[in-house]
Amino acid sequence: MKTIWTEQQALITGGASGIGLAIAKKLNGLGVKVTLCDCYSEKVEEARARIGEDCRTVCVDVTDLKAVETAFGKLIEQTGPIDILVNSAGITGITNVHSHEVSPADVDLVFRVNFFGSFYTSRAVLPAMLSQNYGRILHIASIAGKEGNAGMMAYSASKAAVIAMTKVQGKEVAGTGVTVNALAPAVIRTPMVEAMPPAQVTYMTDKIPMKRCGTLEEIADMAAFIVSPEASFTTGFTFDLSGGRATY
Ligand SMILES: NC(=O)c1ccc[n+]([C@@H]2O[C@H](COP(=O)([O-])OP(=O)(O)OC[C@H]3O[C@@H](n4cnc5c(N)ncnc54)[C@H](O)[C@@H]3O)[C@@H](O)[C@H]2O)c1
Repeated sequence: MKTIWTEQQALITGGASGIGLAIAKKLNGLGVKVTLCDCYSEKVEEARARIGEDCRTVCVDVTDLKAVETAFGKLIEQTGPIDILVNSAGITGITNVHSHEVSPADVDLVFRVNFFGSFYTSRAVLPAMLSQNYGRILHIASIAGKEGNAGMMAYSASKAAVIAMTKVQGKEVAGTGVTVNALAPAVIRTPMVEAMPPAQVTYMTDKIPMKRCGTLEEIADMAAFIVSPEASFTTGFTFDLSGGRATY
């Protein structure tokens, strides 16, 4: 078991923006060696500049299995097993559209990023985690995956698939020192939410009993706990961060 943050390294997909970047900053502040993974090289380099010199970057599209295997394999070869993987890369696809009107190509793309991306990356890091009998995987799912948001079929279904994968992976590696959990936020103001149709955002925020959005600090703090050595008896679970929307 690794008990000290400064002896650990974290890989964060979608690390160039929003939730991924906030979690990266939090872990970096705790002394973890952080690698940001994102698919836009300029954006990921800008994010690195905001974190600090000790932060690494890999520019990878998580939908590209070969690219994930090559980049993650090289990183593990150079630096040793990834102790913490946070999968925050995600897209909403087209929203505010009924499921019988959404294009199959859009559903396919959303699944490739949100589900297959998280599958490919966890698949790439798990063997080395298992070999050291320690690891923390955190998939950023969504309240949409638990409840289903009208107008967001592709997104909701892809996040439900992530939640199911979390349950399976958590059970499969239980007892090895590796945990796999997910986190299901409601609405947190990030570039992803800013890009959505206002009607869709109103639909989502109106459902939050606390009558406010979550903050980046709140999600980063909860994520840091989930990937901490102390969070050692919880696996396959989807943590809630929804201001009271989900109470299960
Ligand atoms: N913001 C919210 O309210 C909210 C709520 C629930 C769940 N989430 C989830 O949290 C995660 C982060 O969302 P965010 O709000 O920070 O969004 P964001 O758009 O700010 O960040 C997402 C990042 O993922 C990257 N990305 C997208 N496709 C990629 C690909 N194919 N390969 C590699 N990187 C890719 C983007 O470049 C971007 O930097 C997503 O999975 C999202 O579904 C967000």
